[in-house]
Amino acid sequence: MKSIIAFSHQLLKDIIQNGDVVIDATCGNGNDTAFLSRLVGKTGKVYAFDIQKQAIEKTQVLLEKNNIENVELIHAGHEQVSHYIQDQTITGAIFNLGYLPHGDPSIITVPETTIHAISSMLALLKKRGRIVIGIYHGHLGGTTEKNEVLAYCEQLDQKKYQVLQYQFINQTNKPPFIVAIEKK
Ligand SMILES: C[S@@+](CC[C@H](N)C(=O)[O-])C[C@H]1O[C@@H](n2cnc3c(N)ncnc32)[C@H](O)[C@@H]1O
Repeated sequence: MKSIIAFSHQLLKDIIQNGDVVIDATCGNGNDTAFLSRLVGKTGKVYAFDIQKQAIEKTQVLLEKNNIENVELIHAGHEQVSHYIQDQTITGAIFNLGYLPHGDPSIITVPETTIHAISSMLALLKKRGRIVIGIYHGHLGGTTEKNEVLAYCEQLDQKKYQVLQYQFINQTNKPPFIVAIEKK
């Protein structure tokens, strides 16, 4: 069975092609941004958001190290996506909720802006496109965000979207899980 990270990548790898436009909604240390960059290739584009300067700088360093040039780094909240992407559709997006690994654990994603961003990205999503959300909820505030994001995803119209949950149910200490939304 694939780990949470490996499965989230697989869900995106299955649908993203060269030339596509995609979003890393929480770039953090930049690992998912670099992964998406390879999937879309030189003719594609990755928009990568984070509210922390430290995350943008770390991602920038990783991109430079790997000679990656198809990424636009955006030092702003993902809930502002419609200010940055207007005339394009996206094939995929990834969110990793929670706090920056090795960073300040008090700076976390919060339900209101997370749900606003998911909703805005669904409007930009192509048919068969996917939004993959890694729900890390072991921290303070994590349970509230998990519950609100799940409630939002559960009420999405099944005629328009398929919503998947991927979770190891015998692990202790609030393990992360994935929710993935595919547009029909
Ligand atoms: C779990 S980390 C992301 C890890 C990242 N995917 C990686 O590979 O390192 C969550 C990130 O979300 C960022 N964040 C919190 N609120 C945000 C918002 N409204 N918009 C964009 N990023 C946000 C945090 O600053 C943090 O870097």
